[in-house]
Amino acid sequence: MGRAGTYVKELAVMTAMPAAEPTRRDFLYVATASAAAIGAAAAAWPLLDQMNPDASTIAAGAPIDVDLAPIALGQVVKVFWRSKPIFIFHRTARQIAEARAPDWHDLPDPAPDSARVKAGHEQWLVVIGICTHLGCIPIAHQGNYDGWFCPCHGSQYDSAGRVRVGPAPNNLYLPPYAFLTERKIRIG
Ligand code: FES
Repeated sequence: MGRAGTYVKELAVMTAMPAAEPTRRDFLYVATASAAAIGAAAAAWPLLDQMNPDASTIAAGAPIDVDLAPIALGQVVKVFWRSKPIFIFHRTARQIAEARAPDWHDLPDPAPDSARVKAGHEQWLVVIGICTHLGCIPIAHQGNYDGWFCPCHGSQYDSAGRVRVGPAPNNLYLPPYAFLTERKIRIG
């Protein structure tokens, strides 16, 4: 188990649901532990907050474990690693099919979807949630490509986090991460 495995981990994450239904469900608290996932519920926040790892530990770059089980199909969840927002997108079959379209050769930063996800885990896209133009935070489920829209200057990213409309020059960057189980990843 990694050095972060000695810590009971939990993360407060804000979800980005489709803009059409911004409700209290937009806020989801995902908790992970080194051995077992703790469930997710907004009501559990006071308890979970007390168990948060030391902020300086996270800021120093400790890996974080994220339980994927509470993330609904089609949902984008935001967690923080090294003070950066990380988007975790549970893609639907349609969104995967869109991402796998063969037009990627013509994109500003060409990359096949297979290079953006882990083999065997195509439903999960994990990207750093910072626009590659000037660093704004893109908004999920907005724009024309089933991905993200950056409100600062209008860049749009698709369901693989690839830039489709600039001025952003590059795709959303991929953080280092690995699947620990079918439903848990370690970022960092
Ligand atoms: S910072 Fe995103 S488009 Fe400029």
